[in-house]
Amino acid sequence: MSESIVIPKGADRKTVYREIAPQIAAMVEAERDPVANLANITAALKEALNFLWVGFYIEKDGELVLGPFQGPVACTRIAPGQGVCGQAYSARKTIIVPNVDEFPGHIVCSSDARSEIVVPLIGEDCQVLGVLDVDSDKLDDFSDTDRDGLKKIASIAEECLRT
Ligand code: SME
Repeated sequence: MSESIVIPKGADRKTVYREIAPQIAAMVEAERDPVANLANITAALKEALNFLWVGFYIEKDGELVLGPFQGPVACTRIAPGQGVCGQAYSARKTIIVPNVDEFPGHIVCSSDARSEIVVPLIGEDCQVLGVLDVDSDKLDDFSDTDRDGLKKIASIAEECLRT
């Protein structure tokens, strides 16, 4: 198993997602521990795209509990419907927030966060396994490129959580 990824230098974000997704899939293939794999996925995303915060919240007993992440310390538990993560969890939909100050109920973990995207992780029985959350220190930093790119990464994480 490869424990490093090659990141195209100076490439646009779409290219970066396209290049790193198969490498991340290969990286997690040989390891069956979900925490180890999710930790490496967050490290790969942080290294490749230098987001302010990237991490997972995992569903446990009906709420979201902080999982592997890279970035500033974060709140540990989020209830369904609470904040961007809880809303993405309850609606089972990806949410892009161009300006976190304008999102009702946004949970502030880092005062540097300006925009955010949350992608739900869906299990085999269509249950929500958790969410992939990415914060940026730039306003309006996420687009359909990130929605598509992070959905691909989320599908790899879903596989990790199913094993
Ligand atoms: N802002 C999130 C909380 C998690 S942190 O961003 C890491 C939310 O509103 O759900």
